Amino acid sequence: MSRSASSQQPLSWWRHAIVYQVYPRSFRDANGDGTGDVEGIRLQLPYLSALGVDAIWMNPWYPSPLLDGGYDVADYRDIAPRFGTLDDARRLIAEAHDHNIKVIVDLVPNHTSWEHEWFKAALAGGPGSPERERYIFRPGSGPNGSLPPNNWVSVFGGSAWTQTEDGEWYLHLFDISQPDLNWNHPAVREEFRSIFRFWTDLGADGFRVDVAHGLIKDQTFRDVDDPDKALTVSIGDDHPHWDRDEVHEINREWRAVLNEQEARLGRELMMVAEAGVSPESLPLYLRPDEYHQAFNFDFLECPWDRDEMVDRISDAIARADAVGSASTWVLSNHDRVRHATRYGLPVDTDNNEWLMHGPYEILDADLGLRRARAATLLLLALPGSTYVYQGEELGLHEVYDLPHDVLDDPVWARSEHTFKGRDGCRVPMPWTADGPSFGFGSAGSWLPQPASFATVAASAQDGVTGSTLELYRAAIALRRELWVNAPDLVWDNEERNNVLSFTRGSLRCVINLGDDATDLPHGDLVLSSNDVTGSVLPGNTGCWLRS
Ligand code: BGC
Repeated sequence: MSRSASSQQPLSWWRHAIVYQVYPRSFRDANGDGTGDVEGIRLQLPYLSALGVDAIWMNPWYPSPLLDGGYDVADYRDIAPRFGTLDDARRLIAEAHDHNIKVIVDLVPNHTSWEHEWFKAALAGGPGSPERERYIFRPGSGPNGSLPPNNWVSVFGGSAWTQTEDGEWYLHLFDISQPDLNWNHPAVREEFRSIFRFWTDLGADGFRVDVAHGLIKDQTFRDVDDPDKALTVSIGDDHPHWDRDEVHEINREWRAVLNEQEARLGRELMMVAEAGVSPESLPLYLRPDEYHQAFNFDFLECPWDRDEMVDRISDAIARADAVGSASTWVLSNHDRVRHATRYGLPVDTDNNEWLMHGPYEILDADLGLRRARAATLLLLALPGSTYVYQGEELGLHEVYDLPHDVLDDPVWARSEHTFKGRDGCRVPMPWTADGPSFGFGSAGSWLPQPASFATVAASAQDGVTGSTLELYRAAIALRRELWVNAPDLVWDNEERNNVLSFTRGSLRCVINLGDDATDLPHGDLVLSSNDVTGSVLPGNTGCWLRS
């Protein structure tokens, strides 16, 4: 079986880190304006430290009209006034370091906001101006150029092109407010190298890079056979803008900047790719002169099925290992239905969209959470690093019944009200069982929180044996002690229906993915995701054993 990265590589922090993802808008509101802020994150550092995380990744916190939750950046070198100031960011980073917590910032290179000064200059400059060359402007097709230049569609729905008042069209693979940059332009390349330097000089330890696979577009701008299919990423499909070879040059350019900064600053830096590419392509992004790591979405999308999980875990470890990277596990983030909810929906493996959007009326929420807790013990026992999305340590579910009039995600409008979008996993955190907005802030919260937050708030779980928060705390602490330096993973091949089991040296991780109880293998029980009595492992439960 695949070897763990730990036996082969020096143990850089990012190889085994627990990275906690903070969605700043929804984490904690220190100034009582209904929106989270940098000061709120700073106030929660003791909580994060007690949870035991090694790093935090901050979703975009830059000045932005927030038309796509901040992934529409107006200025890459500042903090949005609604979140605070650059000084607040400096202080947060310094205090995080005092708690031994690294800080990863989110870099959005595929597109800017339409409020970015470059895009304003491009609009003002008019057709043919040098300012337009930093973006992707084209004349239209059809009579008088009144139709889009080609048939590409936006990830959020509708055409990927919008016409300006002077008749030219600009490309936006996402929202109309997110014009795509032209990555063949030297000024764009230089600008981002400089942004990498800016944030590492300020203290950042790493970058999560948005849409890392989308920067380069087919320069022929040809029509595609099936525009919707062109948005998917299976290998061999017709991709005019995803996963094109030239993107690796950019990866290498950035890695060189990080290497230089690392040497200059004397701190280990990293970058993690959000690259929605096939599992076969992903290792190319992880070569030693490219990204340090990349999210493993193949595993995130895995159904609750033993054989599927074993295959995907084995593949991921082997692929990362082959290029000297480390597997990077994640089950939830700000774009996906929370996994406590996903695991409680019947699994239709042929239709991921159906899984992502319901049907919620047949959700078994208790089962979902039970499985999510078992999955936590699985992930934390694997070699590699794990990303934890804020609130999953409280067992939060997707808030799938948000009223239409509060929906903020551009997906709702651009899908012509077909998909509610991603707001359900972005509802502000419940810190206390009572009080305005459950301790999120002193006022309300920008998205309404459900009444059920009272029972899952951090204060309601703190110190409570068996709570999800205490399970995460215990598991993260034990992981550091037990698993981080454990030997390579070896699967237990004994045929047991839907029971996933492996050893790493004298430690064993067993996850019963079935509904029926199974015999517990021999060994001392170290931790379990639900009560285990005697020698029986109940259904949908995971445990760690030591022999
Ligand atoms: C981010 C999304 C964002 C999109 C466009 C991503 O994949 O995670 O939240 O909407 O990029 O920037």
